[in-house]
Formats: sequence, C-alpha cells, structure tokens
Amino acid sequence: MTNTEQQIKELGNQAKGELAAAQDAHSLEAWRVLYIGRSGQVTAILRGVKNLSEEEKRIVGKEANALRRELEELYQEKQERLHNKISGDRSKILPPPLTPPRAGGENAAGSLHPLPLSMNRIIEIFSAMGFIIADGPEVEEGKYNFDALNIPLDHPARGEGDTFMIDPKSIGGEKDIVLRTQTSPMQIRSVQTMHLNPPFKLIAPGRVFRREKADATHESTFYQFEGLGISEDMSIADFKDIVAEFFSEFFQKDVDVRLRPSYFPFVEPGFEVDMSCVFCRAENALSEHGESKGVGCRICKYTGWIEVMGAGMVHPNVLKNMNIDPKKYQGFAFGGAIDRLTMIQYGITDIRMFWSGDIRFLKQFS
Ligand code: FA5
Repeated sequence: MTNTEQQIKELGNQAKGELAAAQDAHSLEAWRVLYIGRSGQVTAILRGVKNLSEEEKRIVGKEANALRRELEELYQEKQERLHNKISGDRSKILPPPLTPPRAGGENAAGSLHPLPLSMNRIIEIFSAMGFIIADGPEVEEGKYNFDALNIPLDHPARGEGDTFMIDPKSIGGEKDIVLRTQTSPMQIRSVQTMHLNPPFKLIAPGRVFRREKADATHESTFYQFEGLGISEDMSIADFKDIVAEFFSEFFQKDVDVRLRPSYFPFVEPGFEVDMSCVFCRAENALSEHGESKGVGCRICKYTGWIEVMGAGMVHPNVLKNMNIDPKKYQGFAFGGAIDRLTMIQYGITDIRMFWSGDIRFLKQFS
C-alpha cells in the first residue's frame, strides 16, 4: 500500500468516526463541509489527482472516489436517521392531533412548503460557515429600506410605483413606513439591534414585497436572503470563496462563481453573481481526473452560467450608518432570492406555483 493510499484509509477512518459522533443537524453539516463539501478533505484529494503520475492517478483516483461515494452514502443514512429521530422526538412531546380521522380515508401527512425547506437549508449551511442569523420586520421604516442604504431621494425604487407604502396614521405614527422591498435594510438594522462589532458575518433571510405584476419569474411577494461580512481585511476574493462554497453545498455540486459589474447604491463596487450551471457544468461532474464536463443546456440558456444574486463591497456611507469606521473596516454584502434558488433546485418553471396552494405541487416536497 502506498503512502497516499494509507492516508486515504486513515482519512476515511477519521471521517467515519466523526460521523458516528455527530448527533445533530448542525454537527452533521459541519462534518459534510469538512470532508465531502466543495473544499472538503476528500474533495481536495480528488482535485489533486490530476497532478499525479499516470500510475498514481489510477490508484488514488479509484480509492478516493470509492471513499467519497462511501462517505456520501453514510452521510445520507445519518441524515435520514437524524431526521427520523427529530420527527420521533416530536411525536413524543406533541399532543395527539385534534382532527378526527376522515371517515373511510387515510389521514394525509403534511410536509413543509419548498420555500421554508430551502430557507432552513440556507440557514444550516451559513451557520456551519460561521454566520450568525438575523431576523427583522417585514413592515420597515423608510429610513432602513432606503436612506441608510445610500439610496438617493430621487431613486425610482422609492416611488409608489415600486413600493407598497403604509399610511403612517393607520399605525398611529408619523414615520415613513413601507413593506420592505429587499432584505438589505437588515444590514444596518442587525448591526444596530444586535450591537455587532467587526469582525462578523451574518445572514438575514425573510419575505419582501414589490409592486409588480406576477409572471413566471416575478411575484409581488417573495423571499430573499441577505448576507453581510465585515472585518479589517474582508476581500472580494473572500466573498467569492464563501458564495462558491455556499452554492456548492446548496446544490450538492462543485459550483464556480463569476462576478459581473453592476450597480446598487449601497455597495461599491457592485456586481451580479453568476454560478456555473448546476445542470450542465457542475461536477460531481469533475471526472476522476479532475476535468470538467460539457457546457450548455436549456436552463442556463446555453451559456454555462446562471445569475443568482446581487452583491458588492459595502459602501463607505453604509458602513458609517452602521457606526463602523470605513477607514478601518471593509466587507461584502449580497442578496439573493430564495424562490429563485428553489426553482433551480427543483426545476420549477413558474414562481406562481409557490402560492398556488395546489396540493399536487406541494405533495412533491418533504
Ligand atoms: C436586491 O434586492 C439587492 N438588495 C441585492 C443586493 C444585496 C445587492 C446586497 C448588493 C448587496 P435585486 O432587486 O436585483 O437586488 O433582487 C435580488 C434578486 O431577487 C434578483 O436577482 C432576483 O432573483 C430576485 N427578484 C427580484 N425581483 C423579484 C420578483 N419580483 N420576484 C421574484 N424574485 C425577484
């Protein structure tokens, strides 16, 4: 047995031991990131295979692939066992259902809607990466939704045409109140209410509202997740690594990201983030020798890339509004739509299905 084979064997034993010790979803996720995630140790060995001699490629590629497959299977089993344990524990503590059985029929078991399923998964992945989770109001002050985000008074998004305004008198006040149009107000609100000092990384998922006519890809109510990471030296490269890791975990594929210049008043520079298409360009897709497979399918419109979020480096004015010194600290912010990721994940072609209440649609997720 060569040294590398021995190392793979030892890594496998270590991974299996730690997997057995994982007792909750959080530690299971941390385990997955550590061993079989995008930057995991087994994945790293597989990526390195291409640099080996022909003879080593054959042996190490085979062993490492076998280990990855075995760990993935063990991970799936453990995930199911933990899930059943949680459901089992719940059934012990919850009172029996109050609805009497339907005469002559079976009681149908409910399941989570796909959007909260995705939201939970997003929270799980970012928590394992050291992000804290923030929650805030859907009915928001204009100050947080626009002003503190450096959005100028004459910006079109501030108009009644795009925003659901609330009559302040109807809630007994005088402030400028709106249904939040994005989760970005959580950037300043979280830092203030949670008294955060850099370095920190946070994620804020939640519902947002826009005065838009619904079509296959737009709704007037949808879900976003906001990310914010500030430290003395947080860089665009850090941001890219973090989001690539996130998308890889979310889609369980090895995903690359690329940035294209864009404009949002609260970041400078700003960009649109594309991920490599998880249908035609991803790998679990890397071959045994680390080469990526073909490019182009209907989902990515034959470009190999899918647009997934807006982002950028936090604008100095926004840092000031957080009471953070822009001369000392810097960081990234990003915002993506949970609806969009869920549609990509499950191949849903019309966003309106989420609010259709169609039981045939909902029954497909659990
Ligand atoms: C924003 O909302 C910015 N707050 C994102 C951001 C955060 C940029 C932090 C920079 C820093 P945008 O309006 O592009 O950006 O919306 C973000 C995503 O929400 C879009 O990529 C799109 O996938 C989704 N989205 C926008 N409008 C709708 C809609 N009406 N229905 C469903 N999804 C939508």
